[in-house]
Amino acid sequence: MGELLPTEWHSNVETAMQSGEINTTDIEIGSKVFSLAFVPIAGNDYVNLYGADITKRVQTENRLRDSEQSARDRLRRLQALRTIDQAITSTLNLEEVLDSVLSETLTLLDVDAAAVLLVDEDDWLTYSAGAGFNTKEIQRSMVHVGEGISGKSAQELELHWVEDTRDPSIGFTRQGLLRAEKFVSYYAAPLVSRGSLLGILEAYKRDSNQLDEEAREFLVAIAGQASIAIEDAKLFTNLATSKAELEDTYDRTLEGWVTALDLRDNETAGHTRRVSEMTLGLAKAVGVSEDELGHYWRGALLHDVGKMAIPDEILLKPGALTDQEWAEMKKHPYYAYEWLKNLGYLRKALDIPYAHHEKWDGSGYPQGLKQKNIPLGARIFAVADVYDALTSDRPYRKAWTREKTLKYIADESGKHFDPEIVAAFLAL
Ligand code: C2E
Ligand code: SIN
Ligand code: SIN
Ligand code: FE
Ligand code: FE
Repeated sequence: MGELLPTEWHSNVETAMQSGEINTTDIEIGSKVFSLAFVPIAGNDYVNLYGADITKRVQTENRLRDSEQSARDRLRRLQALRTIDQAITSTLNLEEVLDSVLSETLTLLDVDAAAVLLVDEDDWLTYSAGAGFNTKEIQRSMVHVGEGISGKSAQELELHWVEDTRDPSIGFTRQGLLRAEKFVSYYAAPLVSRGSLLGILEAYKRDSNQLDEEAREFLVAIAGQASIAIEDAKLFTNLATSKAELEDTYDRTLEGWVTALDLRDNETAGHTRRVSEMTLGLAKAVGVSEDELGHYWRGALLHDVGKMAIPDEILLKPGALTDQEWAEMKKHPYYAYEWLKNLGYLRKALDIPYAHHEKWDGSGYPQGLKQKNIPLGARIFAVADVYDALTSDRPYRKAWTREKTLKYIADESGKHFDPEIVAAFLAL
């Protein structure tokens, strides 16, 4: 037996003879696979050896196993894209979206670390988010478009990768990062939106197993999703920023107008601001929503903007007005309305300039509105305005005391003023 049979089969023969049962084993010879059967022959001290070429069957089984594996991988990867999609639609917060992109990349791609570098106006790709790094080296990443592997990926808008970054001929520039993190292979997928570069998605591996073609395609797919997310989040942030900036500029412009107005009206500086602040305090006390407060603020600042059109002889007259002068003075809410109605930003602030001289009992002007037909903002503002007017010197009279003024306002509840607002005012 020793001379005839390779030694690794001796135990198969012995097992078959001792147990009296068929014993099998598979062997590879070159590119072929054979199944051997050691068949004991009853009553004899030998076994028959049968061999069958099972190469095809084994190949089919392997393919099946592989394709099941890759079907599972594909499914997991599709689910991951879906997860990223949901992250995109449920949040426009760039940081959260990038975190989701990176964690899916790590879970599904068998890579050790991943990072997003975003491009700036000067074509520098700089670190924006990362996962899987052991050190802070990655955060120092600053690569110019066109430079090195990552820069090439960004320039050519294509996936680029290096199987062994330690090869000096590759010219990977962030050697400090590689050393600190012990990375071996590197993949860079461009982040592109409508043909323009947003940045790159980088993946790093510490072992030398490469990502296969399907995994690389998946990296590109994730980069595609990430690009949409980044674009959306950027748009949103830019919009929000420019809207906030615009509002800020606008509000400062308004405050400039108001200063000019107060100067002309001979009011002490800060009068209008004081009325506006009192209006907001009172509005909060009666439960006006945060969204409305901005409109109230601007409306209050501008309440007497229509007085710009009233001639000095009337506006600054030291005594009582004639009927004709009074008729002109009472147009100031109309002037305000005419001036502001076409400014979209101020449309919702119009209630106060237009209706601040309406009275609860309907005896006010310009429309003679009654009770809750008067916009709430105007009802609130009227109390603040009269309080402040009466406690200030006017060309036509001296300031009243606080006590006299409060008593007057209480007396006017249900006549000039909304009783609920007066109650809230007196309770402040
Ligand atoms: P204003 O001086 O800012 O006054 C705003 C509102 O506070 C007045 O609206 C009025 O409701 C109340 N108020 C102010 N001073 C007095 C007062 O001495 N007694 C009483 N009971 N209430 C007072 P109104 O009456 O619609 O007046 C609108 C604007 O017309 C005033 O704004 C002021 O610029 C002007 N005005 C009103 N009366 C006179 C006047 O007798 N002489 C002059 N030169 N201007 C007047
Ligand atoms: C870098 O390594 O810092 C960028 C260039 C490259 O990817 O080789
Ligand atoms: C309202 O105007 O709708 C209620 C609030 C108030 O009148 O004080
Ligand atoms: Fe007024
Ligand atoms: Fe006023």
